Amino acid sequence: MQLNNKNNAVIVYQSNSLHGAIRTPSDKSISHRALILGALCLGETTIKNLLLSEDVINTAEALRQFGANININKDAECKISGIGIGGLLQPEKNIYLGNSGTSARLLIGLMSSCEVLVKFEGDESLSNRPMNRVLSPLQKVGLEILEDNDRKLPLTLRGATMPVPIYHHLTIPSAQVKTALILSALNISGTSTIIEPIKTRDHTENLLKLFDADIIINKNSDGDDVIKINGLVKLSPQKIDIPGDPSSAAFFVVAGLIMPNSVLKITNVMTNPTRAHFIDVLNRMGANIKIAKTYSKCGEDVCDLEVTSSELKGIIITKEEAPSLIDEFLILSVAAAYAKGASRFCGLSELRVKESNRFEAIINMLSSSGVSCRNVGDDIVIDGKGEVIGGSEIKTNLDHRTAMASFILGLNAHNKIRIDDISPINTSFPGFTQLYTQIGGIYKSE
Ligand code: S3P
Repeated sequence: MQLNNKNNAVIVYQSNSLHGAIRTPSDKSISHRALILGALCLGETTIKNLLLSEDVINTAEALRQFGANININKDAECKISGIGIGGLLQPEKNIYLGNSGTSARLLIGLMSSCEVLVKFEGDESLSNRPMNRVLSPLQKVGLEILEDNDRKLPLTLRGATMPVPIYHHLTIPSAQVKTALILSALNISGTSTIIEPIKTRDHTENLLKLFDADIIINKNSDGDDVIKINGLVKLSPQKIDIPGDPSSAAFFVVAGLIMPNSVLKITNVMTNPTRAHFIDVLNRMGANIKIAKTYSKCGEDVCDLEVTSSELKGIIITKEEAPSLIDEFLILSVAAAYAKGASRFCGLSELRVKESNRFEAIINMLSSSGVSCRNVGDDIVIDGKGEVIGGSEIKTNLDHRTAMASFILGLNAHNKIRIDDISPINTSFPGFTQLYTQIGGIYKSE
């Protein structure tokens, strides 16, 4: 992937009303985890509806290098013959993870307690993201850092020979860090303990229960989650069907709300409370979102939504809410721009270390499009006027969500919006642009 590649630029034009039905693509977080857990079983795991995006393919490719046999057919059905807990083989070449922070952090956790030597590499965005948040606790397990590179990729690491059980109090609310530690613990003899004061997405814990791992979660007297894992317990292969990604659905939910005279049906939306909180936030803003049907897939609740154009009002999002909205702030900032009244999103420091600096991305995207927007410390304040002027040129900086949020911002902006590089969308949502035009969005490749 290249920065500012001219061929990947588009112009988004003001559209008319939106109509139709969208099936949400499969969840990225669960796709990564299902592949990893399948690779840790002896026997065959089947995954239906694996997300075939660049990030997930990078995880699959890395697991193949560790010895797992992974076959994915054109219908996104995947069969994995795993290597067993601790069965990682020595990779023959460097492991390239593209843009995917989830792959990097989860796989560093996975290899940290196995005797393998790995050089991890990534694209320009991933090579700028902090890895110390996983490296530092995993060094206590026995992970050795052979090429430090300021704790960023490329990193050469050697897993522990005699891994020591983990006792770690999470200081950053991060599901990636939590999962890295849990995956390490699976190959450590004895009980590892991870304390999580602020709840983050819990798909790893949910899936591990399905795969028969020895994992127990209780609350301590401070109300924190205490996760205990007994290592070296065999996992049982499973048949998994991956539910739709609420973070991908969020773009079209906001599209349906901000466009006048529109009705969109959005099916297959996972409603795990650590992920679907944006629906509550939008409801607080005055959104008309109806839940048409609910069902369950791989232990997660899923639903179909009907979204109707709504007069949105400004909102205050507290810093306590931030972890369960962490991937939705870009698209929520678009909702706030089209709302009437001031919005304040609090406690957004983690946005600075995502695929790009999303804190700056929100301010740049909105200010350049004529929306008054500023930061106050780690908060962002947006003065919604119910309309967006547009006429802006937005740089995506290798960030898929900046690209998709800019498409939605342009839907009802008075003037066209240019997006410099939409190729990062393939990391999480291949097919986004087709759905965009299918429901009535107008854009042109440059
Ligand atoms: C993810 C966790 C989140 C999220 C990312 C996916 C995961 O990151 O932003 O897109 O699958 O665990 P952090 O855990 O670093 O907040």
